[in-house]
Amino acid sequence: MSTSIGWRHLPAPVRIDLWIESASARLAEAGHAAARLEAELLAAHAAGKDRVWIKIHPEAPIDEQAEAFLTRRLNWEPLAYILGHREFCGLDLLVDESVLVPRFETESLVEEALKLAEPASRILDLGTGSGCIALAMKAALPSADVVGADISPAALKVARENGRRTDLDVEWLESDLFDSVAGEFDLIITNPPYVASNADLPRDVAEWEPAKALFSSDQGTSHFKRIAEQASARLKPRGVLVAECGVHEPEVFWTIFEERGWTLIRWIGDDVGKWGFSCRFGLRLP
Ligand SMILES: C[S@@+](CC[C@H](N)C(=O)[O-])C[C@H]1O[C@@H](n2cnc3c(N)ncnc32)[C@H](O)[C@@H]1O
Repeated sequence: MSTSIGWRHLPAPVRIDLWIESASARLAEAGHAAARLEAELLAAHAAGKDRVWIKIHPEAPIDEQAEAFLTRRLNWEPLAYILGHREFCGLDLLVDESVLVPRFETESLVEEALKLAEPASRILDLGTGSGCIALAMKAALPSADVVGADISPAALKVARENGRRTDLDVEWLESDLFDSVAGEFDLIITNPPYVASNADLPRDVAEWEPAKALFSSDQGTSHFKRIAEQASARLKPRGVLVAECGVHEPEVFWTIFEERGWTLIRWIGDDVGKWGFSCRFGLRLP
């Protein structure tokens, strides 16, 4: 039972600053780590303003819609779904429950890929979700030819909308991994599902993010196995694959590639724990 003061106990009209105090106490009580920041973001979203505005207008009245947003967050819905958007590599992208919320760590995957890509590369983002990786690559390499593929039509709808919103020209393709993908690429970048079905996940991930984006059979390895087997035929000679594999047991995922003839270029993200790698297919090196 909450001991914090709720909406009905706040003097009407409810002031933004008092609501933020109340909301952050309720979020903290429920176990949300960034309670104050989240309360401010929810207040700003309800007010249709940014965080700076709400800080300089603490006395402004806040709409009861803020309370509805808070109820969703207390039910562990990801903040990005409630706000409806998320920043990734400087792009403001729409997100909803049909796509994985783009992660800050995945930006390092893009940074690594950009070190390896030529300006006019042909690039495939496999499992594009919100389109975040494909769009970030296209934004950084405007003359590249970028394809974003996903098995989920609902995710592709969001990716397509993000393409329009950012005015970046990416080709979107519905495909079960490489099945409907044509031609060869200089670079394949992928953040595939790699979570084992029995993994212990935070509530907002487990209960809200799409299972299709998270889980892979065979203890999380089946997508990686298919990619390691099929990607070499889709890379041009000297082509590169960059993959995210998560912090838990990254060697398990790399071994799948190594056993299928791939050569490691670099582990990515060693400062925060190994969680990705770039590699070439060994036999295709000239
Ligand atoms: C971990 S999410 C990554 C989303 C996005 N690239 C990102 O980094 O935020 C994995 C994505 O792969 C897609 N996916 C799952 N199985 C797939 C398959 N067999 N073929 C293509 N895409 C698949 C999911 O729909 C999801 O969008």
